[in-house]
Amino acid sequence: MTEFIARPAETRRAEIRAKAAAMGVDEAYIATLVETFYGRIRAHPLLGPIFEEVIGDNWARHLGTMKDFWASVAFNAGRYSGKPVPAHKKLAAVEPWHFTIWLALFRQTLEDTAPSPAAVLFFMERAERIAQSLQLAMFGLPELRREER
Ligand code: HEM
Repeated sequence: MTEFIARPAETRRAEIRAKAAAMGVDEAYIATLVETFYGRIRAHPLLGPIFEEVIGDNWARHLGTMKDFWASVAFNAGRYSGKPVPAHKKLAAVEPWHFTIWLALFRQTLEDTAPSPAAVLFFMERAERIAQSLQLAMFGLPELRREER
């Protein structure tokens, strides 16, 4: 039955940090990723206005939240304690195809800035998974949507 005993959280955290270090991902890279990506988001003709409407003068706070978020994903920094689902569910202007643009901008940003090919895959995999779960919460399963029956 020993296989069911969870490894100590500290061991797991150390493994996650070692994996990030091997990919060249550190706090400085998280800052570069977040600042470059949201610079591009703000400049995008379709996504920019959606963000500006909600974030307004609070970009410094949003960038801080997003650095905490990605640091928590990449090396279990434990600094992010927000709730992404309600934050996105209230965005009435967002449609599924906006996520396609978001993910393409994120991929391009990674390809332009990431310290290693492994880092591109690492962040992209997680972004795609989170984008899927946000879309499920926001729009439901496509096959259950009334207008598509
Ligand atoms: C079209 C796609 C997306 C749009 C338009 C969008 C827009 C936004 C906006 C406007 C906010 C600020 C909400 C507020 O301050 O009240 C926000 C917050 C956030 N977004 Fe997105 N987002 C998108 C996709 C994603 C994806 C794919 C991820 C993760 C991979 C993500 C992660 C987050 C996180 C962690 C927050 C902070 C939530 C909090 O704790 O307040 N977003 N997003």
